[in-house]
Amino acid sequence: MNREFLTAPELFPPTTPLIGRQSEMAAITTYLQQPHGRLLTLTGPAGCGKTRLALHAVAELSPTFADGLLWCDLAPVTDAAYVPHVLAARLGVREPGDQPLLDLLTEFLHGRRLLLILDNCEHLLAAVSALVHHLRQRCPRLHVLLTSLYPTGLNGEKVWPLAPLALPESTATLTAAQAAEFDAVRLFVERATAVRPGFALTEQNVMAVAAMCQRVDGLPLAIELAAARVPLLPPPTLPPAWITLLPCSAARRPASFPATRRCGR
Ligand SMILES: Nc1ncnc2c1ncn2[C@@H]1O[C@H](COP(=O)(O)OP(=O)(O)OP(=O)(O)O)[C@@H](O)[C@H]1O
Ligand SMILES: [Mg+2]
Repeated sequence: MNREFLTAPELFPPTTPLIGRQSEMAAITTYLQQPHGRLLTLTGPAGCGKTRLALHAVAELSPTFADGLLWCDLAPVTDAAYVPHVLAARLGVREPGDQPLLDLLTEFLHGRRLLLILDNCEHLLAAVSALVHHLRQRCPRLHVLLTSLYPTGLNGEKVWPLAPLALPESTATLTAAQAAEFDAVRLFVERATAVRPGFALTEQNVMAVAAMCQRVDGLPLAIELAAARVPLLPPPTLPPAWITLLPCSAARRPASFPATRRCGR
């Protein structure tokens, strides 16, 4: 087995640091290294950081899996019938003759110690469940990490619901130093600094930043979108009106508000 072939070097390492998530990283990597830790699903609302956490966990797990890692992004796949074909293509398994594809995949994966990551599964959940169920029964050394809005419900699935980033509960007496302890605020500052060099959390803007993090419920994607607008605002303060222009988290979003997708990693 050519180990290089099975990695996805274009994904590693992510270009920005992971903010927080230390306990999640420790728990997920520990679980997937255990012999029985063979199926873990990271769940949570769109933009909460499932893919991002999976990327970092996989990078750390890489040495553990002698036959490598295989990352399949299912977001662009629209037809559930293609799910096994996507996996076959990523593995380089040819589909000649009339041997069923699932048999070919099983044959290829049987005996290999490999971590399979199926990212963004929610729109193909039945097909993914069927594939994973089939492979897990026949490939005892295969471990699977899924990211999805919802779990598969398969027996033995460890579901890990991802919480939003930690954020301050009250903004009334919050200082910049206190706010900087919260991961949601740290993510905002990190992204705002990238688009406006010299941006800093100050006693003048801390309430606006903390209120924004609350408004989006600590959702990383929404925080990134908010930070991307910082260059449009006059320094050093962020006007209160800025907050009302921001995307809301799904829970608070009016029905008419357009859904957002990922921005850059
Ligand atoms: N802990 C974090 N540190 C730094 N950036 C983060 C963190 N969590 C998420 N992000 C960033 O927030 C954005 C959304 O994260 P991500 O795409 O992982 O969410 P998701 O839950 O997989 O969303 P979807 O359900 O739409 O696939 C990405 O740009 C990602 O890099
Ligand atoms: Mg994702």
